[in-house]
Amino acid sequence: MRVGVLTGGGDCPGLNAVIRAVTKSLINHGQCEVLGIADGFEGLMLDPPGVKPLGWDEVSGILHVGGTILGTSNSANPLRDAATLEHVGRNVRALGLDVVVAIGGDGTMSLAHGLAEQVGLTCVGVPKTIDNDIANCERSFGFDTAVATATEALRRIESTANSHHRVMIVETMGRHAGWLALEAGIAGAADVILLPEIDFDLQAIVDFCRGREQRQRYTIICIGEGAKESGASLTVRERIEQSPDPVRLGGVGHVLRERLQPHLRSEVRTTVLGHVQRGGDPTPFDRVLATQYGHHAAQLVLSGRFGRMVTLQGGEIGSVEISRVANTQRTVPLDHGLLTMARDIGICLGEPCKQDARPAAAGSH
Ligand code: F6P
Repeated sequence: MRVGVLTGGGDCPGLNAVIRAVTKSLINHGQCEVLGIADGFEGLMLDPPGVKPLGWDEVSGILHVGGTILGTSNSANPLRDAATLEHVGRNVRALGLDVVVAIGGDGTMSLAHGLAEQVGLTCVGVPKTIDNDIANCERSFGFDTAVATATEALRRIESTANSHHRVMIVETMGRHAGWLALEAGIAGAADVILLPEIDFDLQAIVDFCRGREQRQRYTIICIGEGAKESGASLTVRERIEQSPDPVRLGGVGHVLRERLQPHLRSEVRTTVLGHVQRGGDPTPFDRVLATQYGHHAAQLVLSGRFGRMVTLQGGEIGSVEISRVANTQRTVPLDHGLLTMARDIGICLGEPCKQDARPAAAGSH
C-alpha cells in the first residue's frame, strides 16, 4: 500500500510523535510505502505535488520535538474551486496514494470529508489541536502541553500581580471552546475564568475584583480568546479569506482591560499568550497519546477501515466516522463538573452575581 501522511491546520506539540508512530507501524507491520505530504493539503495542490518518502531514518529522533517535520497550513483549501479539486484528484492518482493519514483539527477533518466525497480520496484522521474542541473525542494531543504552558504563564504572572497589587488579565487561545482557559485557569489558580461558553457580566467582575482589592489586593483573570461580554461581539484579530476557517480571534483581553479599568483602583494589565501555547516540546502525556493515536491510525489503514478518525472516548482509543466530526466543534457543556467545581471553590466565571452569594469574592488563592 502507498500511504500519504499530512499535518493540517495550526501546528501543535505532538505532531511529530504521530508521524513517527504512523510511519514506523506501517513500515514494520505492513511493508507500506509512506509518503510525507508537505504543508497540509497544500502539498497536493502544487504542481508537481510536494511529497517526500518517509522511512525509518526520517522519523527517528523526532518524538519529543515540537512542530511538524512535514510543515502545515491553515489557509490551504483544496475544495475552493473545481479546477483545484481536479488538480488534487490528478495528483492523488499520479502518486498512487491508496489512503492519506490526515493529522489535524475539525478544519482538516472537514476537508478530508469533502475530498472523499468530491474526488474519492480516502483518509484516516488523527485529532490534533491545542483547543481540544474536536467532536466525539475527549482529548486531542497538544492540549495537555498547551495547558501546561498557559499554567506556567499564569503562575509567573501571579508574582508580579502580587508585587504591584494589580489585576492581571491573561488571554489564552482556544477559539470558540473554553477548554484551554478553563483547565489552565484552574491549574494556574486564576481567580476569574472567562469562557466563550458563558457571556460575562462586567459588573460581576468589577464587584469581584473590588472585593479582592480590599483583601488579597491582586486578581488574576484567565480569559479564552472566544469569550465576550453579554451583548458584545467576538473580538476578531484578522480574517484570512482563503482559509477554510477565515476568522482569527484574539485581543479580548485588551477589550476587557479597557472596560474594567475605569471601575477599579488597581491598575489592570493584559498579557496575550498567543502562539507560545502552540510551540515547544510535547509533555510526556502528549507524547504517549500522540504515539497511541499514530499507532491506531496505522491499524485502521492496515485493516482497510478508511474514512474514520482516531478518538479517545471513555478513556479508550477507538475511532469514529470522519463525517461525524467534520464541521462540528466540542465546546464546554454548561453542566460540566469543572464549572460546578470552579464555582464551589470561589472562582468567578463572570456570571451575574446573586447578592446573597457575595462571600465567594475571596477567589482561589
Ligand atoms: O486552532 C488552534 C489555534 O491556535 C487557535 O487556538 C487559534 O485561535 C488559532 O489556531 C490561531 O491561528 P493562526 O495560527 O492562524 O493565528
